[in-house]
Amino acid sequence: MTQTRVNPSSGSGWACSPVTLTIQPSRVKLHSLHRRSQERAPFRACMMRTVDWDYDRNELRLIDQRRLPEALVIVSYLEHRMVAQAIREMVVRGAPAIGATAGFGLALAARESTARTPRELLADLQSAAEILKASRPTAVNLIWAQARIFNKLTGFSGSTEAMRQAVLEEAQHIADEDVEINRRMARHGSALLADGDTIIHHCNTGALATVDWGTALGVVRMAHEQGKHIHVLVDETRPRLQGARLTAWELEQYGIPYEIIPDSAAGHFMRTGQAQKALFGADRVAANGDVANKIGTYMLALAASDNGIPAYAVVPTSTIDLSLARGDLIPIEERSSEEVLGLQYHGERVFPQNAQARNPAFDVTPNRLVTAIVTENGVVGPPYESNLKKAIHT
Ligand code: MRU
Repeated sequence: MTQTRVNPSSGSGWACSPVTLTIQPSRVKLHSLHRRSQERAPFRACMMRTVDWDYDRNELRLIDQRRLPEALVIVSYLEHRMVAQAIREMVVRGAPAIGATAGFGLALAARESTARTPRELLADLQSAAEILKASRPTAVNLIWAQARIFNKLTGFSGSTEAMRQAVLEEAQHIADEDVEINRRMARHGSALLADGDTIIHHCNTGALATVDWGTALGVVRMAHEQGKHIHVLVDETRPRLQGARLTAWELEQYGIPYEIIPDSAAGHFMRTGQAQKALFGADRVAANGDVANKIGTYMLALAASDNGIPAYAVVPTSTIDLSLARGDLIPIEERSSEEVLGLQYHGERVFPQNAQARNPAFDVTPNRLVTAIVTENGVVGPPYESNLKKAIHT
């Protein structure tokens, strides 16, 4: 029945009901349909991570996040070019998940290559890395994961086949470490949450945005598992609604109480004393602690600061880019205006026919608005220039 690998190192993973549905497009296989409804039972059949390598078939498996919460669809990839497309089109999204996916993308590129020598293979891998790198510019984890793999290959003296294997092994290490790192961040971060807190959470930073467990949402999840009563106000996160679709879906799986709010309501809830903390992740943190994250994070942090509410970024050290002195230097991805204009209300488009739109996918929150940055090595406060360096080198 199932081709999905149960990964014993995964502390959680998504329960899924894998049934091969169709093959679409030619090199991508779609498995596993799940009707949302109230049926939870079919999800019990197996467990998988958001980003997973299938060792039986030597293929990369991703949960198609464009389909949730309506359907849980698992897509299998055999070619790095298709993986780049999946990142660009947000089949997989969230900085750590993108990083792990890019690592496995290189493992696929190594398998696709017909190189006969390690040197030729390295050249093929470098071309593949360029293609993968161009898929989404803001999340630094993509570049970080590739750099890790190329570092591993520096001075490599084995056979071409051994090099292929080394790429896969390092990609798997990156994925496994991500889960472990998220749990460490969650333990540090959960100490910041008090029993009875209402948290405003932006975008999706849960298991879907990582290999498993999650960053900011992982903190909420850990606090919940510790028995704290946490309520989450879920920013919808326009225009792609990662909060309303994905965070809400995850919170339902975990049994954590939540309500979805329009992004523009966050300030109201904080000013009226109905929220005690704001939590978000990051796609890249500059050396001075400026945080690039999903569009709307800046406004959330501004409102938190005005109301004396702590705003925490929960960030693995792989998301910290010490090569960039400040947030202004972080490339901000601008996506298609159709993501904004495609919005429908009661089944009809809401904008006049000739409407134009701008769609920056991320913004930069200045370090002065960030109360602390939670990393796997501990909670880091200002001054960020020195403290982030220490956190990375711990
Ligand atoms: O455009 P997305 O959905 O990839 O954006 C994701 C975010 O902005 C997350 O907050 C960020 O990647 C950190 S989550 C682990």
